[in-house]
Amino acid sequence: MPSFSTILKSLALATVLNLASASPIELAPRAVPTTACKPVIKPTAAAPTVPASGNDPDLPTTDLALQYVAIGRGTQNYTCAGAGANSSATGAIATLYDVTSLAYANINMVNAMPPNVVTMPVPAPGSTLMTTAGPVPALGNHYFDAASTPTFNLSSAGKILYGKKSGDVLAPAGANAGPAGTGAVDWLQLVAKPAPYVSNGVSLVYRVETAGGMPPACTKAETLIVQYAAEYWFYN
Ligand SMILES: *[C@@H]1O[C@H](CO)[C@@H](O)[C@H](O)[C@H]1NC(C)=O
Ligand SMILES: *[C@@H]1O[C@H](CO)[C@@H](O)[C@H](O)[C@H]1NC(C)=O
Ligand SMILES: *[C@@H]1O[C@H](CO)[C@@H](O)[C@H](O)[C@H]1NC(C)=O
Repeated sequence: MPSFSTILKSLALATVLNLASASPIELAPRAVPTTACKPVIKPTAAAPTVPASGNDPDLPTTDLALQYVAIGRGTQNYTCAGAGANSSATGAIATLYDVTSLAYANINMVNAMPPNVVTMPVPAPGSTLMTTAGPVPALGNHYFDAASTPTFNLSSAGKILYGKKSGDVLAPAGANAGPAGTGAVDWLQLVAKPAPYVSNGVSLVYRVETAGGMPPACTKAETLIVQYAAEYWFYN
């Protein structure tokens, strides 16, 4: 049995060995980064890739850099001229919630959100979106301007995109049909609308992983408001 002093000696030796094996960089005082105290806005890991719809051809690809991934929650609006008519789309209104960091960390959790949040009430303005991954802060708003231009006002980032559709494919067959059971709206790509529109900081967006938003059949002259949720991927 080793004596008490033998144990002490071996512990001391172990400490010396640990110190000796530690790298000099670890022992040097740490440089204070100039960005200290600023929140980390963008992860440094490789950007996630926008989901594929499975259509052939699928939406056009992009070489631009991913800026934001957002969950949109709102309504798609339609008008019906009468029973048996085809409804016509009159625009959409939605709040965008910032899930960029989560998209880098766990895209599967983000992809699970639209079918989940589409069944929940639209949060009050200024409120966070409650998700299975916790509360998500607002990034901005999506709406159609007076000239029916799809607009993405990323107000909390000071960026804006006036869109023009550049790609349109059907949602996958298994997409969530929404609370009304009417089906998932198409997956889209939109680019920046030319002058006089001036987008800023974002120049392309995809709408993917849609849940709900398709209109029911027209049964009379009326305005239809259909709940939907989707992912919006912004690039620049
Ligand atoms: C509705 O749209 C379909 C497909 O575009 C077309 O074939 C049909 O004639 C339209 N129906 C009416 C009532 O306009
Ligand atoms: C769509 O419906 C919402 C109500 O859910 C309304 O606030 C909005 O003004 C409508 N937008 C359009 C473009 O019709
Ligand atoms: C974008 O949203 C912010 C905050 O609501 C608002 O102050 C700003 O006027 C909006 N910008 C445009 C171009 O609508």
